[in-house]
Amino acid sequence: RDTDGARVYSLRAAAGTRRFKPGRPTRTWGFDNGHLGPTLRAMRGETVRIDVRNTLRETTTVHWHGMHLPARMDGGPHQPIPPGGAWSPTWRIDQPATTLWYHPHPHGATARHVYRGMAGLFIIDDPADRRLGLPARYGVDDIPVIVQDRKFDGDNQFDESRPLIGGVGLIGDTLLVNGTIGPYHDVTTERVRLRLLNASNARTHRFALSAGRTFTLIGTDGGLLPEPYETHTVQLTPGERAEVVVRLRPGERIVLRSMPPDLNVNFWNSRFEGGDDAFDVLELRAAPRLAPSAAPPAALAPPPRLAPFGPGRVDRRFKLSGHKINERRMGMDRIDFRIDRDRTEIWELRNTNGTPHTFHVHDTQFQVLSVNGAAPPPELRGWKDTVYARPGAPIRIAVRFRGYADPNHPYMYHCHLLYHEDQGMMGQFLVT
Ligand code: C2O
Ligand code: CU
Ligand code: CU
Repeated sequence: RDTDGARVYSLRAAAGTRRFKPGRPTRTWGFDNGHLGPTLRAMRGETVRIDVRNTLRETTTVHWHGMHLPARMDGGPHQPIPPGGAWSPTWRIDQPATTLWYHPHPHGATARHVYRGMAGLFIIDDPADRRLGLPARYGVDDIPVIVQDRKFDGDNQFDESRPLIGGVGLIGDTLLVNGTIGPYHDVTTERVRLRLLNASNARTHRFALSAGRTFTLIGTDGGLLPEPYETHTVQLTPGERAEVVVRLRPGERIVLRSMPPDLNVNFWNSRFEGGDDAFDVLELRAAPRLAPSAAPPAALAPPPRLAPFGPGRVDRRFKLSGHKINERRMGMDRIDFRIDRDRTEIWELRNTNGTPHTFHVHDTQFQVLSVNGAAPPPELRGWKDTVYARPGAPIRIAVRFRGYADPNHPYMYHCHLLYHEDQGMMGQFLVT
C-alpha cells in the first residue's frame, strides 16, 4: 500500500521464454514472468494503483477490461507506454464483485501483443458477497481458467501469420489454459468455481462438460447473475467471462471442453474459423473424499435495472459490418460521439454481414434489453461489457456512464475480435 492507503501492484511488460512443449522454448511476452501476468485482486471501495513498466522494445498499453474508471486511467490507445517508460494509473474500485482482465490496447497492434502472451485476470471482491457461501478459496475451489488458442510453428514458436482464408484473424489449433497445455486440477471439495475467460484473439469457445454433465452459471462479465442457471453449455466470444460452479462426485474425473461454437455465420466463416473444432480445456480430478460445499443460493445479485426490458426508444445505432462500425474505421483524432454522464441510453447493435463480430464498451457494464426483439436468455441477464452480435439478430442494450466526465480523454467501443479491432473496427466517445 502507498501512503494514501491505495493498494499498489506492479506489472512489468517484458519479453521472455516459456517451455510449453518438449523441444525448444517459445519466445513470449508477458507481465512479470514472460508469459501472462499475475491475477490482480482488489476489494470494492478500495483504491488501487498499478505501477506498469515497459521493458519491451515497442510501445504498449495496459487496459483494464470491464473496469469502471476515469478515461485517462483506462489504458486504451491514448495512454501509450513507450519502451523503457512507466505509467501509474490509480482509481477507486466501484463496481460489484466479478472477474475482469487486463491486456494491451495499442492501436493497430493489440492482436499481436495479446497473442504473444500479455494478459491477466483482475478479480474484484465484495465482502458483502461472503454470505452467499460460493466457493472462494483461490487455487483450491476457486480456479482461474484463461483460455487461448495458439499455433506453434515447427520450431515451437508462436505462428503469427494470419490465415489466407477466413476473415477473423489468428485461429490456433492448440489451447493454452493459464499458459499450459493439457492442464488438470486436483479437486478436494464437492464444488469448484471456475472463472472462465476467453482470451483468444478470434476463437469463440462454447464450454461444456464431458458425459453430458451440467454446471451452474453464476456470473458473467460484470458480476453475479440475478439467479443461478443450470445449463449444459456457456458460450464465450473473445473478451467475455463467465463464472460456473461444477459439482463433483468423489473419485471421478470430468473434463471441461471447448465445443464447436454456435455463431450463425456463413459456411466459409464457420469452416475456416474454427467452427468445427473441439478441445479439452481442463480435467477435474476429484479426490476419493471431498469436503462438503454449499449449493449456490437461489438469489445471487440484484438484476440490472437501467431500463425496462422490451422495445422502446433507441438513442444510438451501431452497424457492424466489414471491419467497420457505422461504415467508419477508427480515427485516433475523431470523436464519434459525446454522451452525458449518468444518463441512460438505449443502443441497438446490428451485425449486417455473415462474419462474427462482438461489441465491447469501455468503462461500463451494460444491461441487455432484448435479442432479436425477445427477452434476453438467462446468460445475458446480468451485467455485460462484451456481447456477441449474432448476424441477423439485433441486440438492444441500456448503457450508462457513471460519474467521471472528461472533455479530453475518450473511451473506446469496438469489436473484440482483435484483428478486427486492429483493422479499425473501433470508435471513441467522450463522457461529458
Ligand atoms: Cu478488452 Cu477495448 O478491450
Ligand atoms: Cu475493454
Ligand atoms: Cu468483428
